[in-house]
Amino acid sequence: MSDESLFIKNDIELLRKRILEADKAYYVDSSPIISDQEYDGLFDKLIKLEEKYPEYNNENSPTKRVGSDIDNTLPEKEHTIPTLSLDKCYNIDDLISWIDKNKIKLGGHIELVIEPKIDGASIVLYYQNGKLISCLTRGNGFVGNDITENIKTIGSVPLVIDDKDALAVRGEVFINKNDFEIFNEKFAEGKYSNPRNLASGAVRRQKSKEVAKFPLNIIVYEGFYDSKKIDNHKDILIDLKNLGFPLNDHLGFFSEKLDSNLIFPFKDAVVGKISDISNYIDDLGRIRNTLPYEIDGLVIKINDLKSREALGFTQHHPRWAIAYKFDAPLAVTRVKSIIVQIGRGGRATPVAILEPVELSGSIISRATLHNQDYIDALQVNEGDTVTISKRGDVIPAVEEVIEKGINVSSFKMNKICPGCGEKLFDEGAHLFCKNEECNLRLLETLKYFVSRGQMDIESLGGKTIEFLFQKGFIKEIPDIYFFDYNRLFEFEGFKDKKINNIIQAINESKKKDFKTILSSLGLKDIGNKVAQLLTDNFGDIDTIIDFSKNKDISKFTSIDGIGESIANSIIDHFNNSKVLDIINRLKKSGLNFIENKENKVMIKNQFLNNTRWVITGSFENFKPREKAGELIEKYGGEVLTSVSSKITHLLCGESAGSKLDKARSLNIAIIDETEFINMFSVNNINIIG
Ligand code: IVH
Repeated sequence: MSDESLFIKNDIELLRKRILEADKAYYVDSSPIISDQEYDGLFDKLIKLEEKYPEYNNENSPTKRVGSDIDNTLPEKEHTIPTLSLDKCYNIDDLISWIDKNKIKLGGHIELVIEPKIDGASIVLYYQNGKLISCLTRGNGFVGNDITENIKTIGSVPLVIDDKDALAVRGEVFINKNDFEIFNEKFAEGKYSNPRNLASGAVRRQKSKEVAKFPLNIIVYEGFYDSKKIDNHKDILIDLKNLGFPLNDHLGFFSEKLDSNLIFPFKDAVVGKISDISNYIDDLGRIRNTLPYEIDGLVIKINDLKSREALGFTQHHPRWAIAYKFDAPLAVTRVKSIIVQIGRGGRATPVAILEPVELSGSIISRATLHNQDYIDALQVNEGDTVTISKRGDVIPAVEEVIEKGINVSSFKMNKICPGCGEKLFDEGAHLFCKNEECNLRLLETLKYFVSRGQMDIESLGGKTIEFLFQKGFIKEIPDIYFFDYNRLFEFEGFKDKKINNIIQAINESKKKDFKTILSSLGLKDIGNKVAQLLTDNFGDIDTIIDFSKNKDISKFTSIDGIGESIANSIIDHFNNSKVLDIINRLKKSGLNFIENKENKVMIKNQFLNNTRWVITGSFENFKPREKAGELIEKYGGEVLTSVSSKITHLLCGESAGSKLDKARSLNIAIIDETEFINMFSVNNINIIG
């Protein structure tokens, strides 16, 4: 090596060292040692040198933290340490009996370390010769996904350590609560229900460059050395801290024999006797909400490694540790299978078919999995044991995998439509069937048309419409009005009463107003709000069709609330011969395609203009609660389904769930039923009776 290249190599190494020290000071110790400008200067210099002298490239250079555009394949890799899960308990009494039982097993003496249980993505970092060589997800306990490049983007992960021993470190990658709110809105359309799912989704992204954009943090809690001899967990934690790993500061150490020289160098650490544990747990339960990250409990661990060895493991968890969970789970069940549902607009939604389980008074047998990203974030697959939640009265969702079945990786959605066999297309976060003739889409369109809040032909809902569709009696919406329902007498399950109910509901539906009919057609982009704008502004279907035929886009875009893309969509629909044929046949059946002018006068008082509402809970005066939504829309407001910083009001009824908590945390106006009714009466509108 020439003198010059020796200098350069040395320069590069010094720069790396300095940057890594600065990273640790900033990310782990929260006390920066150099200014941002100085840091950027060093970083730029290092990038330039590495570009110019690729022969000195090093996988563990801090420049690798920015990630790359190369697709990760996330291959599976075996763990060299057991990555079991934890046994759990939900109250102090059960914890105390666990401690007592182990104390007896261990001959009367016990020492415990307690750590907050952060709710994130569980990972293992592997080091060899002082270098980070791989990072794996926990996976099924034996095999995990290799996410090394992604984890390297997290600033607080040491890329090099001052210890040559082979070392495996378990930790949790997580996102702080505040960062979650911002990121979930900005990058994920609010689709993640909690920071854990977002963190878990982020670490599994395909491009490490994208991972680098997420505000990921890590905290480590277990170290497994190859030859270094440390005989207890407390000292392992101290050693990990000294090696530069980020650890939780709220640790507890409890022992009957407290040595006066004992050092437990963590900022908010608590040291006490075994009898102090219940106070420590109460305290953490109290400060839980003030912590920047979500914890779902505490982990209580036996300190002495020899004692751990003596206690051993079950198939599922070590006998030397237990999780104390703050909240009982909502419901635990097993995913029997995962199917893909196709909506009327063609969106493919994966749905978990569950072993039926009771949750807040109802039996749940399916739960939504939203899309492939959500599945990957949860790492869920058929056969897994999961927790499910039902917030307010939203569709149940799978929240967390608590035990993997035989499948290591997550379920992969088939890109073929289960209804028509055609290819599904990627569009944003979802897959879509683009075939307008797809059986599943047609059936969903019919179901939507008859549904509550639309044409309200409920006696035709659910299984009945499916039956009529499968028999070929009703294929398109107008068939509902032309089919002779008396033909159903010959089929099992159709008696006089049922058939009369159907006929009566169909006749009733003919009285529906133009706006409801228009929105019930299920045309893309013409939901309740746009249907209202169209009927308000054009009055009848023929005018809308005429403007569409002339491709007069400005006639639509001049309406506040209709942008270019919706206008184009409207024009497309009303130039489509199929849509026009459906409208003609519906007109013939007696449906009303002209706006009722009397109604229109009332709607002129748009005092809820520019307000966006979410409705949660149940109401005395609005049953079903869609009735409250209709009022909001009638007077100019918008009704959305999920709470985010976009909404202005939460209309909150009895037994509201997490939507209320979320709205509170976002400082959104919370309106109860009485206040809601009052808002109308101060505007001289009586909505009751
Ligand atoms: S110890 C064999 N300690 O909880 C040791 N786990 O339900 C088992 N977790 O998969 C893990 N904080 O992702 C341990 N301080 C902590 C933890 C912790 C969070 C997670 C971890 C694990 C899950 C088990």
